[in-house]
Amino acid sequence: MIRIPAVEPVPAGVVTLDDHERHARTRLDDNAWAYFAGGAGDEITVRANRSAWDAMQLSTRVLRDLKGGHTRVSLLGRSLAHPILLAPVAFQRMAHPDGETATAFAAGMQGAGMVLSSQASTPMEEVAQIVLGEAGRGPLWFQLYFQHDRAFTLELVRRAERAGYEALVVTVDAPCSGARDRERRAGFVLPPGVSAVNLDAMPPPQPVTIEAHQSRMFDGLLRHAPTWEDIAWLCRETTLPVLLKGITHPEDARTARDAGAAGIIVSNHGGRTLDTMPPTAALLPRIRASLGKEYPVLVDGGIRRGTDVLKAIALGADAVLVGRPCVYGLANAGAMGVSHVLRLLRDELEIAMALCGCRTLRDADSALLVLPHAS
Ligand code: FNR
Ligand code: LAC
Repeated sequence: MIRIPAVEPVPAGVVTLDDHERHARTRLDDNAWAYFAGGAGDEITVRANRSAWDAMQLSTRVLRDLKGGHTRVSLLGRSLAHPILLAPVAFQRMAHPDGETATAFAAGMQGAGMVLSSQASTPMEEVAQIVLGEAGRGPLWFQLYFQHDRAFTLELVRRAERAGYEALVVTVDAPCSGARDRERRAGFVLPPGVSAVNLDAMPPPQPVTIEAHQSRMFDGLLRHAPTWEDIAWLCRETTLPVLLKGITHPEDARTARDAGAAGIIVSNHGGRTLDTMPPTAALLPRIRASLGKEYPVLVDGGIRRGTDVLKAIALGADAVLVGRPCVYGLANAGAMGVSHVLRLLRDELEIAMALCGCRTLRDADSALLVLPHAS
C-alpha cells in the first residue's frame, strides 16, 4: 500500500528556487544541511556551477509569431512535455518523511522525468508504481552505482527492469567519494531510519588487509571500481538504454558512445566529487561539439532558473537535471514543494523562451547567448 503524501502548503513568500533554498535552511538540521547543501573541498565548483550560468547573457528577439509554442523535447525516442528532470539524490527521507515517495508524486504531476538514486531511502518498486501510474508522467530512470558484488549489481539491474524503469543512469564520476569537508566538520551521520534500502540485501565486501606500504584507496576501494569494459558488459546484459552520468571530457564522451551508451549526462556531481572542476556550463559546448548534433546529451549542476534551462539547451543540451532544489522543495512542503520547484522552473523557462523569441526549444541555439568574454 502506497501512502499518499499529505498536502502541505508551500510557505508564503517562496517564489523562486533560491527562496526554497533559504527556507529549507530553517527546516533542516545542521547534519542534513551539511549533506544536502555541501560539496567537495572548498566548494569552488559548487559556486562556479551557479556563477557560470549567471555570467551568460541572453539576447532577446521581438515581434516573432510565437503562437503554438511549447517546451516539448524528444529524448530516447519519446516526447517530453518539458526538458526538466529530477537528478538522482540519495537519502531523501532525511529531508522529509515522505522522501522519494513525495518526489515521485511531484514528478508524475509535473510531467518531469525522475532518476531514482541507487542510494534512495525508499524501495525502487514503490517509486516506480507511483510514477508509472501517472498519465502525463515523464521518463523514469534508475541511477546505478556499480557495487563491489557484481552479481548483486546485476540483480539491481534486473529489479529495475522488472519494476518498469526505462533507462539506467550509470554514475561514473564517483569511484570514491570527494573530500567532503563540510560533512566531516558537521560530523555527518545518517539519522536512524534512513538508509539505502535497495542495497539492504547486498553481501558485505570481503575484508581486505591493507599493509602499511599499500594505499587504502588504490589497493582498497578502487579494486571494485568499474571500467569501460564493465560499461560495455552492462550494455550487453540489459535491454534498457544506458546513460553515463558524470562525463566531462570530450574524449570520454566519444568513448561512452562507442561503448554502447545511449546518452550522457555532463555533470560534476553538483561539485561534490573533485573540487575546482570547471562548471558544467563551460564543459557542455565542447562535449556537444565532439559528439555532433543527434547524440543525447543532458547536463546538470547549478540550474536554478528557467533562464539557466534555456541557456543549457542553447549550448547543446537536450534536457537538464536539477538536484538540490528538489530536496529543498521536499523539506519545505513535501510533494507540493517538489511540484512547486518543477512548476516554477517550467514557468520561468516559458517566460524566457517567449522573451527570446523562441517558439520551441529547437529555436534555442548559441545565437541566443552573449558569452561573458564577448561582453
Ligand atoms: C547527489 N547526486 C547524486 N548523483 C548520483 O548519481 N547518485 C546519487 O545518489 C546522488 N546523490 C546526491 C545527493 C545529494 C545530496 C546531492 C546534492 C547530489 C548528484 C546529483 O545527481 C546531481 O548531479 C547534482 O545534484 C546536480 O547539481 P545541483 O542541481 O544540485 O546543483
Ligand atoms: C552523493 C552520492 C550519494 O553525492 O552520490 O552524496
